[in-house]
Amino acid sequence: MFESMFRRRILDNSLGKKSRIVLAFDEYGESNSVLERLNWVCEHLGEHLACIKIGYPTILSTGLSELRKIIFRFRDENLFMADVKMADVAHTNSLIARILYETGFDAVISHGFIGYKGGLEGVFKEAKELNRGVVIVVSMSHIGSTEFIDPNMEKLVQIALKHHADGAVAPATRTQVVKRVREIVGNKLLIFTPGVGAQGADYGSGISAGADFEIIGRSIMCSSNPVEAVLEVKKKHDRILSCRAC
Ligand code: XMP
Repeated sequence: MFESMFRRRILDNSLGKKSRIVLAFDEYGESNSVLERLNWVCEHLGEHLACIKIGYPTILSTGLSELRKIIFRFRDENLFMADVKMADVAHTNSLIARILYETGFDAVISHGFIGYKGGLEGVFKEAKELNRGVVIVVSMSHIGSTEFIDPNMEKLVQIALKHHADGAVAPATRTQVVKRVREIVGNKLLIFTPGVGAQGADYGSGISAGADFEIIGRSIMCSSNPVEAVLEVKKKHDRILSCRAC
C-alpha cells in the first residue's frame, strides 16, 4: 500500500511518543497571547501529541505569518493539521490548501460532501504536488450530522478511499459510525475521532471503536494542568490498546 509522507510521519510520531492524541488547538483572542499559548503547547505538550490540529479561531486570531514561524520552529518534532473543513469549488480549495501547506501545515481537513469533480480535486491536486496530507470529514460529532451528512457517510468514505486521502474524521459521540467506517476502510485510512471530553464522549471511546486517534481540545486546554490531563488520556488509551492486543 502506498504510504504518504503525512501518514508515515503521524504513525511514526504516534509510535515514538506513544500517543493517540491529536490536540485541537482553538485558542483565540489577542494574537500574541494565542501565539505564546501555542508556543507553550509545542514546548510542554508536544512530546505527548501525535499531531496538533489548529482551527479557525486561532488562524483568524493570529493570521498566518506569525503562525508560520511557530510551525517552522517546531515542525521537526511535531505535526500540524489545519482544520478549515474546506467546502468550496476546486479553484478556491486549491488556493486555500496551497496557502496552508506553504504555512507549514502537514495536512488539511476538507469536507467530502462537495464531491470530487470541481470540488475536492483542488485539494488533492495541491496535496499531491506538495506531498502533504488530506483528511476528509465523513461524519460529524454534533447531532445535526445525522440530517444530511450521515445518510451519505458510506459514499463519503468511498470518495476518500478512491482518491487516496490519508484519513477520515468520524465522531466518537456515535461510535457505531466509527465502527462502520473502520469496517469499510480496513487499514487504508486513518480514522480521527473528535467528540471526547468536552462534547461528552469518554476518553478512549473513539479508540475502543477502532479509531487511530482521538481529537481532543477543551478538556485538555481548559484543564488547570494540561500536562496532567494529557497524561491521563494517554493512560486510558494505553489500557484500551493493551486489551485490544490480547
Ligand atoms: P473539543 O474542544 O470539542 O474539540 O474537544 C474538538 C475539535 O474538533 C473539531 N470538531 C470536529 N472536526 N469533524 C471535524 O472535522 C467533526 O465532527 C468535529 N467535531 C468537532 C472542533 O472544531 C474542535 O477543534
